[in-house]
Amino acid sequence: MLECNNISKVYKKGNWFSAQQAAPVLNDVNFKMIAGRSMGLLGENGSGKSTLTRIILGLEKPTSGNVLFNGQDIHQMVQRGDQQFRQNMQAVFQDPASAMNPRWNALKIITEPLINFGSYSQEQRRDSAAKLMCSVDLNPSDMDKNITRFSGGQQQRICIARALALSPKLLILDEAVSNLDMVIQAQIIELLEQLKTTHNISLLLISHDIRVVFKLCEDILVLDKGNIAERISIETGIKNAHSDAFTRLVSCVS
Ligand SMILES: Nc1ncnc2c1ncn2[C@@H]1O[C@H](COP(=O)(O)OP(=O)(O)OP(=O)(O)O)[C@@H](O)[C@H]1O
Ligand SMILES: [Mg+2]
Repeated sequence: MLECNNISKVYKKGNWFSAQQAAPVLNDVNFKMIAGRSMGLLGENGSGKSTLTRIILGLEKPTSGNVLFNGQDIHQMVQRGDQQFRQNMQAVFQDPASAMNPRWNALKIITEPLINFGSYSQEQRRDSAAKLMCSVDLNPSDMDKNITRFSGGQQQRICIARALALSPKLLILDEAVSNLDMVIQAQIIELLEQLKTTHNISLLLISHDIRVVFKLCEDILVLDKGNIAERISIETGIKNAHSDAFTRLVSCVS
């Protein structure tokens, strides 16, 4: 489904007054995601997780390498203005409030992707919004409420509902539960676990929290300073995991 081939990213450091230096952030990252399995991208702060996420989403170009989604090069599609792949690849980020227009109600936010990719009557939009709100355990009777009147956890559910609107095959979550308190975090993790089966969706879950990743993913990549330090799967288990980056992340949990 998703293939990252030899992805490297180098940012230029410095400004007009100082010599520009190259700052490598990702170095020859290779992995494949198979439909029906979820992948966790685990790494400490600054290890390059969000940079890789933006490259996968086609929001940023790699310095070298390519990303294939169902065999098609994402950056070539972006270059030709072909946005159709976004129907099958949706993302949810860390801070729900900054990902939504504060003047909009839940209905408008959740059904925005439908409007971008097709024409729907008001009745169809309300109908879709109601179903999507139910699938993320929100009450559809709240769809006309302004987004600022929902709690942080509810706002993240609304972001997930919006991401599900086009029935994507891949849902990318960059630290999407990190800002939530433990109880709400556990509820959202449970919701994502359900969605994997009910919506037949694969997750690409980016996190520095090993517990979240192990709960939801069959395959795990450990990123260390832009390099893949370790590959773990439910078949191989974590018993043999030994990289320094993995050991440091484990020690954060206890
Ligand atoms: N646009 C940019 N220009 C220059 N450097 C950048 C840019 N974006 C990210 N970086 C640098 O790349 C490195 C990796 O950043 P990135 O945000 O990908 O890490 P991360 O693993 O997502 O971290 P976190 O866990 O804090 O979210 C950092 O050193 C960061 O300063
Ligand atoms: Mg990040």
